[in-house]
Amino acid sequence: MKRKIIIDCDPGIDDSLAIMMALSSKDVEVVGITIVCGNAPVTMGFENAKKVLKHMNRLDIPIYMGAAKPLKKEYVNALDTHGSDGLGESFLEPVEGFYQPLTAVEFLSQTLNKESCSVIALGPLTNLADLLAADEKAFNNIEMLVSMGGSYKAHGNCSPVAEYNYWEDPEAAAIVYQHMAKLGRLIHMVGLDVTRKIVLTPSLLSYMERLDPEKGEFIRKITKFYFDFHWQWEHIIGCVINDPLAMAYFLNPKLCHGFNSYVQIETESLSRGQSIVDAYDFYRKKANAHVLNEVDVRGFFELFFELLLHMEKDKLTELEKLIAQEVDHEG
Ligand code: BDR
Ligand code: CA
Repeated sequence: MKRKIIIDCDPGIDDSLAIMMALSSKDVEVVGITIVCGNAPVTMGFENAKKVLKHMNRLDIPIYMGAAKPLKKEYVNALDTHGSDGLGESFLEPVEGFYQPLTAVEFLSQTLNKESCSVIALGPLTNLADLLAADEKAFNNIEMLVSMGGSYKAHGNCSPVAEYNYWEDPEAAAIVYQHMAKLGRLIHMVGLDVTRKIVLTPSLLSYMERLDPEKGEFIRKITKFYFDFHWQWEHIIGCVINDPLAMAYFLNPKLCHGFNSYVQIETESLSRGQSIVDAYDFYRKKANAHVLNEVDVRGFFELFFELLLHMEKDKLTELEKLIAQEVDHEG
């Protein structure tokens, strides 16, 4: 039976790739997409999600608009990373309509009260904190909560110690982590320690274009800006695609390894958004997170190609060779 998921996201270049992966998988059913302000303002994220669904021929999937600003902090978008349209300055044709009468929180509440469903959170955790305030029972019904965010030992990507999703709305992240601690449940934290290793390189992208020109062209269009950004700021030839790893981990948890720990999110000052991982149990608190710190990079790209390009088995040897050239140095 297919596992049901709601994708809570802020598309966003890498969010879009993660959505595409989920829609290409036979193992999951995407019951809805909820949008939060993050990379892009919420209305822009909503428009981008429609563009992705149109490309995938899946405009039947409902999209719901969520929070337009973080709980307490001033909203800071990441359009410097994702381009002025939030989708790598691809300026894809707008898709008219498809507005839903329900808000993201109303949809989450209704759905989680009636069926078993996991949430893959690819943006700031504002919508989930809002759900918790509005309907705790529905929140508690989330089957598995995967969050792309935070970091254990890795350097932050928007401050020395913080990853963007938790930095952008640290109060929301703190509330969600504290609540999971209260429940004695685990958030699957797919942070920068693992996502930084997922670099889409020019060769991998060219290979995608060779195998499927239409899909490859779409991915090139939306990632071009991301490639430029990574070169400018991190001197990387390629781009780190964070959110697809969170989706891949949900589809195949064996792709990452980690450990259970108590995690607390700092909300103020220099350490705003930092995920403090008590790996050595100083606080003597029960774990509220499964913190991923190892990833099978080759396994990730095999799944990425298999899903997005419907890769046939006989092509896998060729892909193996290319991936070995491109990523094996990452260990
Ligand atoms: C996260 O922030 C955004 O730039 C990405 O979409 C990802 O969710 C990485 O820090
Ligand atoms: Ca995101």
